[in-house]
Amino acid sequence: MKKNKATNSSMEEEVVAKTEKKAFSHETVMLNEAVEALQVKADGCYIDATYGRGGHSSLILEQLGPEGRLIVIDKDPEAIAHAKAKQAEDNRIVVWQGAFSDFPDALNEAVASGEISSNKADGLLLDLGVSSPQLDDASRGFSFMREGALDMRMNPDVGMSASEWLQKADEAEIADVIWRYGEERFSRRIAKDIVKHREEEEIVTTKQLADLIAATVYKKEPGKHPATRSFQAIRIFINRELDDLTDCLDLSIKHLVTQGRIVVISFHSLEDRIVKRFLQMHQRGPKIPKGLPIMADQYAPKMRMVGKAHKPSKDEVSGNVRSRSAIMRIGERTDAPLD
Ligand SMILES: C[S@@+](CC[C@H](N)C(=O)[O-])C[C@H]1O[C@@H](n2cnc3c(N)ncnc32)[C@H](O)[C@@H]1O
Repeated sequence: MKKNKATNSSMEEEVVAKTEKKAFSHETVMLNEAVEALQVKADGCYIDATYGRGGHSSLILEQLGPEGRLIVIDKDPEAIAHAKAKQAEDNRIVVWQGAFSDFPDALNEAVASGEISSNKADGLLLDLGVSSPQLDDASRGFSFMREGALDMRMNPDVGMSASEWLQKADEAEIADVIWRYGEERFSRRIAKDIVKHREEEEIVTTKQLADLIAATVYKKEPGKHPATRSFQAIRIFINRELDDLTDCLDLSIKHLVTQGRIVVISFHSLEDRIVKRFLQMHQRGPKIPKGLPIMADQYAPKMRMVGKAHKPSKDEVSGNVRSRSAIMRIGERTDAPLD
């Protein structure tokens, strides 16, 4: 299995140290590149499906005219509060809280309320993962570097916290999640120790879990906290991150105008693989088994890949450590009809 280029502990330490100075702010990754890739038209309708603290949104708004509209989406109530404050000053913004896999609902509601005229967008932006404010706030439970309640939900009002899940899941399920979403080779051993530990004491804090994993993983990866992979895995599972991504990509075919673009910034190979395969699949068409009386060239591509993988500049990486694992991919909707 390919190595997962996920966030590692030294990176998280650097992020924590840097953001300590500018508490609860988020340094936007690939800001100019991503917004340029959207090719913003002044009167277009765009979706920033991962609002965070609105870094990309602000630049999109600068390029939109008075007729343009920007729908902003986030699961996180704090991101939504931030977006609503911005909306109070700018009536081109439509704010919608929920999973970005449900973005067609945001479009349909905005059509119903007369804020936009069509349920197709000119562009859709996804800047995946967690924001710095989420990592910085110990009470959110995303960081093994900070002692806090083991929650990890992007929306703490919906679903099960990481602590609740670890208390009730069976050993095989825990091992499977840690292996599948963290590519952690000690997944079985970690799951076994979690189950053993919880029989004596519920795992309710980030530190409890991080310490338990550190004691279990006896072969350390250089420069990486032993809990890095497991924390990533549990976070991805609790927030359905890869399912949301897959669903959102599939729906983009139906909800982008011709030449409308989808721009996705991923931070680890599990996400990037999904984006890459989606774009390749719709560009080339499905693999047709040999012997079937269908010609491959009868397939009309629904998406065109724009360039290959785009990476942040050296300057950006040296100024913002979080950007170093970023990979941006761009797709453009063709005029091929839906099936
Ligand atoms: C990396 S941050 C985005 C930062 C933003 N581009 C900026 O410049 O401020 C990712 C944001 O997306 C949100 N998010 C992640 N996955 C989501 C999903 N499946 N549905 C809705 N929001 C999601 C997170 O809550 C977080 O606020």
